[in-house]
Amino acid sequence: MTINLPPDLPSIANRKKQEMLDLLLEEEYGCLPPRPYLVSAETVKTDKKFCAGKAFLEKVMLNCKADFGEFSFPVYLVIPRNADKIPAFIHINFRDLVPDKYQPTEELIDAGFATLTFCYTDVSSDDGDFTNGLAGVVYPDGVRKRDDCGKIGLWAWAAMAVMDYALTIPELDKERISVAGHSRLGKTALLVGALDERFDCAFSNDSGCSGAGLSRGSEKETVQKITAKFPFWFCENYKKYADREDLLPFDQHFLIAANYPHKVYVASAAEDPYACTKSEYRAAVAASGFFEERGVLGFVHPDRLPLIGENFHNGNIGYHLRAGNHYFSREDWLRYIAFLNAKHKAT
Ligand code: GCU
Repeated sequence: MTINLPPDLPSIANRKKQEMLDLLLEEEYGCLPPRPYLVSAETVKTDKKFCAGKAFLEKVMLNCKADFGEFSFPVYLVIPRNADKIPAFIHINFRDLVPDKYQPTEELIDAGFATLTFCYTDVSSDDGDFTNGLAGVVYPDGVRKRDDCGKIGLWAWAAMAVMDYALTIPELDKERISVAGHSRLGKTALLVGALDERFDCAFSNDSGCSGAGLSRGSEKETVQKITAKFPFWFCENYKKYADREDLLPFDQHFLIAANYPHKVYVASAAEDPYACTKSEYRAAVAASGFFEERGVLGFVHPDRLPLIGENFHNGNIGYHLRAGNHYFSREDWLRYIAFLNAKHKAT
């Protein structure tokens, strides 16, 4: 094997999924608030002739009632017309925009995919303020316990509420709803996939450190750097591992593996050194055994690092290395679609 994994990488052999999730939640992302017991959608606007009349667009306010209180946020639903059993992506986006530079909505429609999109800062701001949005409802005094979740956990909570809503939309194929996000939202998408088995696949686009990339041996961003700059993405406990990656009782291959039993996908970009594409690849390699132990294909890859442009789509862990830099490109989306369609055809 020419792909060297860090020698002190915690093994996933004979692990239980729950054990991996507990470690990831207690030590890295924090424990999420309880899921809502009721999710309902109120229409804000509709466009029946969206994108040259190819699709129906509806903007809704998603109202979530939970034991800790009530929270609403906007979601855009786009459904191709004249189709049923439609596969869909829940896209956690950086902007309140459809289409958007990170979401080529018309191409997704042309490929027969619906989208449910929300803007992450409509859930809670991307900073250390825990008094606004969902954070303000969950943490009324703005203060967290050491293992309470940070912003990634709150954005993930919202994506799962969107899944609750998606499952009520008759046109959608309930077995084929995936979640996707880029960078910090790729980290979020992987956590969503690990926590929620209703998804078909979780797509991590260029998520890097504390996402798809192994922390041990990472060449650029480290736990020290990320917790110094973005401490609010994680729980307080995570800071313990700044410059002490060797003490982590897990690594990010646990997050990829915890996506079992559904599919998971790691996308990297060749000119994205900060996300340490090698660490992302190694994490996919290290997660593979968890799937294989359960009798299904894990990460099917050659015995070497990937070449620019390659796709590895044969296993339940999908992968590609795109040319270009840190971006959620149309090309990433098209490769995701190719992966999903190939898997669907095979079943
Ligand atoms: C920063 C951060 C990364 C993150 C990225 C993003 O660069 O250090 O970890 O993935 O922002 O979300 O755009």
